[in-house]
Amino acid sequence: MVVVAILAAGRGTRMKSNLPKVLHSLGGRSLVERVIESVQPLSPSRQMVIVGYQAEEVKTAMLSLPDLEFVEQSVQLGTGHAIQQLLPYLEGYSGDLLILNGDLPLIRTETLKNILQTHQKNQNAATILTAHLSNPKGYGRVFCNEENIVQQIVEEKDCTPTQRQNCRINAGVYCFRWQDLAKILPNLQANNAQKEYYLTDAVTQVTPVMAVDVEDSQEIMGINDRLQLASAYEILQKRIKEKWMAAGVTLIDPASITIDDTVELQPDVIIEPQTHLRGNTLIGTGCRIGPGSLIENSQIDENVTIMYSVVTDSIVQAGSRIGPYAHLRGHVEVGSKCRVGNFVELKNTKLGERTNVAHLSYLGDTTTGNQVNIGAGTITANYDGVKKHPTKIGDRTGTGSNSVLVAPITLGNDVYIAAGSTITEDVPDDCLAIARERQVVKPGWQKKSSNE
Ligand code: UD1
Ligand code: CA
Repeated sequence: MVVVAILAAGRGTRMKSNLPKVLHSLGGRSLVERVIESVQPLSPSRQMVIVGYQAEEVKTAMLSLPDLEFVEQSVQLGTGHAIQQLLPYLEGYSGDLLILNGDLPLIRTETLKNILQTHQKNQNAATILTAHLSNPKGYGRVFCNEENIVQQIVEEKDCTPTQRQNCRINAGVYCFRWQDLAKILPNLQANNAQKEYYLTDAVTQVTPVMAVDVEDSQEIMGINDRLQLASAYEILQKRIKEKWMAAGVTLIDPASITIDDTVELQPDVIIEPQTHLRGNTLIGTGCRIGPGSLIENSQIDENVTIMYSVVTDSIVQAGSRIGPYAHLRGHVEVGSKCRVGNFVELKNTKLGERTNVAHLSYLGDTTTGNQVNIGAGTITANYDGVKKHPTKIGDRTGTGSNSVLVAPITLGNDVYIAAGSTITEDVPDDCLAIARERQVVKPGWQKKSSNE
């Protein structure tokens, strides 16, 4: 049985931010959210998050995550002090406590399983995760004897110059036999450079304590400042891109592409340079996305091309062509084999199959049938200053260039709207609607006016 505690009460001074450190976003999810995701597959009996600095904001940001208990550390006197706050909550608990720093977003579940196994197999009082880093700057240094038994952890600020040379570092992941830890927690002292109660001091007060080395030292990267946040993003991106390339996706100029780890790509997708795929996005086989596109929370079915365009919260069905320079900005559904072209903006709009909106249009709150042709510059006037109104367009209907459709309005099937019309009344099936002044041509006008 294991209870998990996540340390998320610190301010994160080195971030130089008003936002608590653990809420900073890494590829669409906060640092602490990522830590929680890494422990969930372990099915812990309780997940306790220690909050303090801007506690309410931190709690609110995590409302959507299931089964969390929040424990308040009202003043932040160090990581040992943070764990002291658990004492009243875990009274009588006799299992293990897995503790993770909240700023460890790249940690893998496999690594946590490994440390738990070693801990339980050896019946340790504590087991800690360590790494050998060529640049150990900023981390606590771990000193072990030949049997890998931890003797001491010294924070960098408390290290002698010789101690600082030690490259084995404390990753900030600990497994404790809770009963042993609970006994010594009240005795922690704050006589160190930072005047804090260090959790790392607890490690030397129980026995035996074993160190487990992490296989891939990138995953224990702690995020303390913006530079580390950027490096973590780079590591994450590398992991994601390697995974998709191995799965049959072509990335052209990978360095210029970013992909969230929540995105799904099918084989034979081609992603062109300067393209960014975010959130819950799914891209079907045979699609060519980019260059220069942003796709967020959208479902793109097979064989779609999207060029220099922005697509959010939308669906594009198979074989459609989007862009260049289209903006599908929410709740748009493009049917199959459509063309949405140059400088077209769609919002809350559904296009039937084989429908074209090829140039310079805005369609908002619009539903079209199949094989509709929206002429260049057609605009739906969907907002009267107070409310949004719908536009409905039937099958095979076409609008001429520069038409304005004043909503609410319905155009039937096989309707044609003459170029330059401002349509304010519904048009039944099979009709031509013209709504503009007739042209007047005045012969000899130039001569006449210059004689006067
Ligand atoms: C800590 C470790 C260090 C280790 C490093 C790994 C200690 C004393 N040091 O140092 O040995 O190498 O992590 O990244 O533990 N927090 C609280 N309450 C507090 C203080 C901190 O909840 O009073 C939380 C922070 O929000 C953070 C975590 O604890 O998520 C670690 O705190 P941080 O200040 O980042 O510790 P480091 O100096 O990095
Ligand atoms: Ca840290």
